[in-house]
Formats: sequence, C-alpha cells, structure tokens
Amino acid sequence: MLSDAHTKPDFDLDGLIDRLPKVELHVHLEGTLEPELAFRLAARNGVVLPFTTVDEMRARYDFADLQAFLDIYYAACSVLVTREDFRELTLDYLRRADADHVRHVEPFFDPQTHTDRGISIGDVIGGILDGLADGEREFGITSGLILSFLRHLPAEAASATLADAEPWLDRIVAVGLDSSEVGYPPEPFAAVFAAARARGLRAVAHAGEEADASLVARTLDCLGVSRIDHGVRAADDPAVMRRLAEDGVTLTACPLSNLRLRVVPALARSTIGTLLGAGVAVTINSDDPAYFGGYIGENYRRIVAALGFGAADVARLATNAINGSFASADRKRELLAELAGVAGGAAGAE
Ligand code: ADE
Ligand code: ZN
Repeated sequence: MLSDAHTKPDFDLDGLIDRLPKVELHVHLEGTLEPELAFRLAARNGVVLPFTTVDEMRARYDFADLQAFLDIYYAACSVLVTREDFRELTLDYLRRADADHVRHVEPFFDPQTHTDRGISIGDVIGGILDGLADGEREFGITSGLILSFLRHLPAEAASATLADAEPWLDRIVAVGLDSSEVGYPPEPFAAVFAAARARGLRAVAHAGEEADASLVARTLDCLGVSRIDHGVRAADDPAVMRRLAEDGVTLTACPLSNLRLRVVPALARSTIGTLLGAGVAVTINSDDPAYFGGYIGENYRRIVAALGFGAADVARLATNAINGSFASADRKRELLAELAGVAGGAAGAE
C-alpha cells in the first residue's frame, strides 16, 4: 500500500488529511458524550454518575473488550434525559466534526438505551434532529440519521421500537444493529430489517468486530444491508473478502476503536490494508470517539501512519466514504468535486 506520495519525505500527508472533506458513516452519538458534557448534564438533571471527576471518568476508559466498554457507555447515557440534552449532545459532536472538516455524517443512535429508562422516543429523536438541523445551519454538515437496534435485546423489542418511531421514519435514513456481538446472532432480526426496508429505509449492521468472518457473511445473507459496520475480521476469510468486493459492500472501519477494544494489539496489525488491497470499499470512522482517544481526523492520521498509506490511499478511503453514503446523488457529486479539489489526481469517482 505504499503509493508514490508516501515515498516523498516532504509530502504533507497530515495536511492532506486535515483538508480532506470527510464523510463519517460510523459514529454513535451516545459515544460522543465527553465527560465534561456528561458532568454538566448530570448536574442539570440531578443524576449521580459513578465517578466524582472528569479525570476519574476518563481514567476508567481502559477496556478489556467490547462488553467492558458497553457497560460504561450505557451507564453514562443516564445523564441524557431531555430533548435539549440530545440536541446539545448532537451539536457538540458536530462542532468537533467540523473541526475535522467532516462535510456529511450518518450517525447512529440507540433509542432503546433511552426508552428503556423511561425517556420518550419523541424527545430522543426530536432532540437529535434539532441538533442535526442546527449543525447544518452552523457548519454546513449534511446528515442522515440511523436508528440502531440493540442486538442483546429480543427482536420483538426491535420491532416495537420501529413501530414507536413511525412518526419520524421519513426523517431517518436507515436502521442498524449494534451492541454485544458474540452470542447475539443477526438471524432473529431478519423480519424487522425486512419491515424497515419495505418502509423505504436502508440497512446497515455491525458485524466482524469481535465475531469472526462467518458473522459478516451471515449478516449479508439475512439482513439486506448495504454496509457492514467494522467488518475488519472479514479479512480472515478470502471468500468473504471477495464477496464484499464483488458486491460493492462498504465497510465502516474504526481503527482507534479496534485498538482500544483490543480487537487488534497494535494499529500496524489492522486488516484495513489487506481489505483495501482486496478491493473492499473500506472507510475510516470514529465509532465512539469520546471513549477511544480520537475523532475521525485522528483515526485517519493514526491508521495512515501505522500502515504506511500514501495520498492515493487516503483519497481512496475518502472516496469510498462518499460513494458508500446514503446522501443524494447531487450531494455525492458536490462532495466528490470538493475532494478532487483537495486531493487532485489522487481522488477518483466511481
Ligand atoms: N455500540 C456503541 N459502540 C459499539 C461498538 N463498537 N460495537 C457494538 N456496539 C456498539
Ligand atoms: Zn459501532
């Protein structure tokens, strides 16, 4: 994966990454809750966090695995109570995204994490949509919201959530599937995904983060997804990699998440280079940036440095994100033109 530009010692790869018009396809809004905002919302809502200071909260972010992270992530969500809280959470993320030159984002939210605590789904979705509208006005960042089901809960609960979200479905672009991966297969969710697709929504799902490549194949078989979230373990099986490449399935990889959740022991061991080399449409994203040590720009910088990527690889990753998004054809054309302006000949449209 060493392209020419990488071999020129004075080529400003970090400058290119900074200026790159980015599209983020894998970020959980709940995973953008920085400790400072968590403490501010806790005080406002009379919620007691299991930490006494911001520093103590951050010091707990040493995760043995995905489940250890999810336990803290769900606990921290208890500070999100009002519609205004969800608006501020969303706008706070978009402010950081703007600093990283994100131009379009398709964030996840997990309604069940909140409705199961007695929060109204209208306040959750309404607050997030308010924040996305504010962010588009303030920063010009366009978006498509993804309603994600929790796979550790029964599929019937996902169906009930889809029904509860009906009044807002025309403002939601896709459904997703996340939470604990091992032991929670995709097949029970086939019916709710089919119902969502019949309703005109697109579909994506987490797979191949902790579980192996066979889960990626099964997810493609049963959920009708256009993208696989993470999917980095697909590289363990050449047949699955070939299928992803041939079917044009976008992978939303999250390098710092994989490092912090010990999916890989070091970024240099990431499979992203193998997948890209096999023709898979890999993209770079942040997942839960408040917890994993960096937003999308940092994810680009760190993986590019670790794998020795060059300018053409960076442009390929950014192009994949534009083409793999659910933005309109017009918006994709705009973003590809912006990218060509920054990356020149290194950027190629589909
Ligand atoms: N929910 C939030 N972050 C997640 C991740 N990395 N994997 C699965 N579910 C999640
Ligand atoms: Zn995720």
